Amino acid sequence: MNILVTGGAGYIGSHTAKLLKQEGHVPIAFDNLSNGWAEWARFGPFVFGDIRSEESLYRALVGFKVDAVIHFAAKAYVEESTRLPEEYFDNNVSGSIALLKAMKRAGTRRLVFSSSCAVYGDAQTPTIGEDHPKNPKNPYGLSKWQCEQVINEVAPVVGVHFAALRYFNVVGNDPEGEIYERHEPETHVLPNLMQAARSAASFSLFGTDHDTEDGTAVRDYVYVMDLARAHIRALDIIESRPKLISNVGKGEGVSVRELVHLVEEAVGKKLQVVEHPIRPGDPPRLVADNSYLKTWFNYDFKSLRDVVKDLASFKME
Ligand SMILES: NC(=O)c1ccc[n+]([C@@H]2O[C@H](COP(=O)([O-])OP(=O)(O)OC[C@H]3O[C@@H](n4cnc5c(N)ncnc54)[C@H](O)[C@@H]3O)[C@@H](O)[C@H]2O)c1
Repeated sequence: MNILVTGGAGYIGSHTAKLLKQEGHVPIAFDNLSNGWAEWARFGPFVFGDIRSEESLYRALVGFKVDAVIHFAAKAYVEESTRLPEEYFDNNVSGSIALLKAMKRAGTRRLVFSSSCAVYGDAQTPTIGEDHPKNPKNPYGLSKWQCEQVINEVAPVVGVHFAALRYFNVVGNDPEGEIYERHEPETHVLPNLMQAARSAASFSLFGTDHDTEDGTAVRDYVYVMDLARAHIRALDIIESRPKLISNVGKGEGVSVRELVHLVEEAVGKKLQVVEHPIRPGDPPRLVADNSYLKTWFNYDFKSLRDVVKDLASFKME
């Protein structure tokens, strides 16, 4: 299939494009490079464009005879979203509306949307199922929830089958180490830990008095290539099903302190950890109930220990 990958020059988009190519598809990366890297859009054609431009999207859909869209493009910094909420709603929500309009005009029938566990807000149960209340704690999470609601209303009317995948924390890089997680600024915990492990820098640990076993935040880490595979499976499923709304997580909670120990074990040295107060908007515990995921994607997810071990063995610039 010819698959338009919005945000294809970003972290998860480039990894998914790589897997799509390996599986015989043609990924067309569509990205405005606001937070991506042109050299990562290397697994198929690259279109420089903004998702808020229905016209640019339409031209790409028709020009490349696109069969399906995987929609990663978004602004995705929680803290920034609290300072620039209007930018988040404009980029993420208006961009998704423009995409639906372009798909309607072009007659493109399948869409996989990157949603997030941020739609849930604070967990009211030890693990979070798809029907958990949606109380996003920040404009980023709210923009993702609004996108889901818009897609849910519009897609059936314009003849689009869709999947909304709510990822938990995504980690790791492709087995060949060609591309990797690279955000500027980097706010994600594992790349920051690896950075501290590779240099003399300290690691900033935010929050040591959460209501969790060791006081640090607990998250559910999913390997990026496993997540990429879930997207390809979702594309298959929605060929015959109008919608699929699912968490993508391993269903295992790991605390930041446990993650620090995993990195120390992998690199064979003790890290210098500097403790800071809890960041506003950081929930204590986000762990997926993945029983629904297992009904459509029963996959042996890579262990976090192996992800960390692989990261420690890669040389990155
Ligand atoms: N990384 C995670 O742990 C995680 C967890 C849950 C959900 N998500 C979602 O997954 C998606 C991808 O995340 P990521 O970590 O790869 O982020 P990323 O920032 O690396 O990638 C996003 C890409 O979208 C592009 N982009 C942003 N706005 C655009 C626009 N208006 N037009 C065209 N391109 C635009 C950026 O340039 C970037 O290349 C996002 O939608 C994010 O909300 C990520």
